[in-house]
Amino acid sequence: MKQLRVGLIGYGFMGRTHSNAFRTVNNFFDVPFQPVLQTICARNGERARAFADQWGYASAETDWRKVVESPDIDLIDIASPNDTHAEIAIAAAKAGKMVMCEKPLGRNGAESEAIVDAVEKAGVANMVWYNYRRVPAVTLAKQLIDEGRLGRIFHYRAKFLQDWTISSDLPQGGEGLWRLDVKVAGSGVTGDLLAHCIDTAMWLNGGIDEVSAVTETFIKERKHTLTGEVTPVGIDDASLFLARFNNGSLATFEATRYARGHKALYTLEINGENASIMWDLHDLHRLQYFDHKDEGKLRGWKSIHITDREHPYMANWWVPGLQIGYEHTFIHQIADFLTAVGGGTSAAPTFREGLATDDVTDAVLQSAASRSWTKVKTR
Ligand SMILES: NC(=O)c1ccc[n+]([C@@H]2O[C@H](COP(=O)([O-])OP(=O)(O)OC[C@H]3O[C@@H](n4cnc5c(N)ncnc54)[C@H](O)[C@@H]3O)[C@@H](O)[C@H]2O)c1
Repeated sequence: MKQLRVGLIGYGFMGRTHSNAFRTVNNFFDVPFQPVLQTICARNGERARAFADQWGYASAETDWRKVVESPDIDLIDIASPNDTHAEIAIAAAKAGKMVMCEKPLGRNGAESEAIVDAVEKAGVANMVWYNYRRVPAVTLAKQLIDEGRLGRIFHYRAKFLQDWTISSDLPQGGEGLWRLDVKVAGSGVTGDLLAHCIDTAMWLNGGIDEVSAVTETFIKERKHTLTGEVTPVGIDDASLFLARFNNGSLATFEATRYARGHKALYTLEINGENASIMWDLHDLHRLQYFDHKDEGKLRGWKSIHITDREHPYMANWWVPGLQIGYEHTFIHQIADFLTAVGGGTSAAPTFREGLATDDVTDAVLQSAASRSWTKVKTR
């Protein structure tokens, strides 16, 4: 089996999920490459070395440019904050490396467009880590929709709720809190949480034509971790929008970090002419399905336990009835990427699909600022 040497940028939350996926994929999936944990890169050298020891990376580095230029690296995997994505991805593409990047691809559509231009010009394989597509229940939802079982789609409903920024004492910026600093993050919950909902929605239900949004920044000023100064908060704390899809269906989307009691409640619901689907991240191994064709006296919502061999990805795991979890979505994504690269292509979502999501988040923010319906950019 061919080896594929990985240079991972960032050892935080996502650095761990990706490292776990690279280490595990060959144990469960028959793919044409074996990922080799070559170099971990992060700003703190001591911690990067400790991470290398713990996870089995051959070397640790503090300058991502050296990793991108290294002849020992085939694939650059970007798991660092959003303001680093464009520079690293463009340099990696120019160096002829395959590139995988965490979401959102860029801080806005313009930044993402430059990244897409770079990988397409270089002709290198690329993929954005929108991992929720690879939850087997969500993948099954996609199959059911593509088989036409729902018929015409009328409604799409998604929300992603958290509660971790409610305290006004929480500072902005720096390690662990870069999501609150608009210069680093690009936006608040729109680019962070809604981006996931939008990617899944467009995958399941096609492109979004126009949006009407409202956003709010509940805490207007916070101390900045790096400067110690109290400065205005530039991110959106909550973001809600109505949307019209190209297929004529209507949608509501909501994301907030101010929903007390919710840590990561991502839910989606799709209502079609013949059937409906509901999915909830807290119960990620179940798909709720209502089929109007069922005999009247037995008609009702089914809770399908997604653990059978005919369910997506599940033949590679345990025996029917035993469920898998969050970390497996990353393993599925790298398995699909390696299979695609073996066939000479990129796996979805490609950077171009990541750009399409950023075009929607741009439209959401523009709509909220202008208090008007806004068309999503078409490319
Ligand atoms: N797919 C998902 O569900 C998901 C979940 C969380 C985060 N993310 C995305 O993953 C990315 C990282 O988020 P996280 O939660 O892992 O962040 P984190 O704060 O936990 O980790 C960030 C890492 O990046 C490193 N880093 C920062 N600047 C760097 C630089 N200039 N050079 C090298 N390393 C640098 C830090 O040292 C740290 O190791 C973000 O783009 C985020 O939006 C995606």
